[in-house]
Amino acid sequence: MKIKSAEFVISNSDVAKCPKSMLPEYAFIGRSNVGKSSLINMITSRKSLAKTSGKPGKTQLINHFLINKNWHLVDLPGYGYARVSKSSKKTFQKFITQYFEHRQQLVSAFVLVDIRHQPQPIDLDFMQWLGEHGIPFSIIFTKADKLRPKAIENHIEDYKNILLETWEEMPNYFITSSSKTIGKDDVLGYIDGLNSNMELH
Ligand code: GTP
Ligand code: MG
Repeated sequence: MKIKSAEFVISNSDVAKCPKSMLPEYAFIGRSNVGKSSLINMITSRKSLAKTSGKPGKTQLINHFLINKNWHLVDLPGYGYARVSKSSKKTFQKFITQYFEHRQQLVSAFVLVDIRHQPQPIDLDFMQWLGEHGIPFSIIFTKADKLRPKAIENHIEDYKNILLETWEEMPNYFITSSSKTIGKDDVLGYIDGLNSNMELH
């Protein structure tokens, strides 16, 4: 898919105030600093469409971007940073939870995880939560430029082993790097395919 246009639409903390149009929508979610905003810039080939930072906690709101005038990409705040609590579920800000519970336009979520780290409970819990709520998702491994190919393979294997303890199959996944522009066509092609399916139904 070619990106012909990518525009910022609106930021807010209330799912009820998100755009009313029924355009198909895709949301990037994951820990703070995992690279959600950078990935939005990478796949749209826009340097600073979404605001990024070296410090965690940069994105604070639900941000809608209109792509090619016919679908939305959503940048969300990260979880696992702002609040500390016993249950990792409690750290998900309420409006993020509400976004996922109520946003009818959402076709699929993308859960971003840093390829360098071992599977983290907070990410596994969030995937579990999406599954329990019937929300389709793919995994996007970020920062692939930081590891050698063999290490990437090993880390994905570790992920598969852990996920297959609770899931029947490994969710769809992508390997990406925003700094080296890796995985762009895979992610865009996947979204394009889902968009075409929506048009058929
Ligand atoms: P919050 O908005 O705070 O939740 O963070 P975020 O997930 O949106 O992360 P953001 O895109 O702001 O990136 C965080 C940091 O990681 C920045 O310093 C980015 O430059 C860096 N980063 C993002 N993607 C990559 C990548 O693919 N490779 C490398 N090496 N660094 C990356
Ligand atoms: Mg961000």
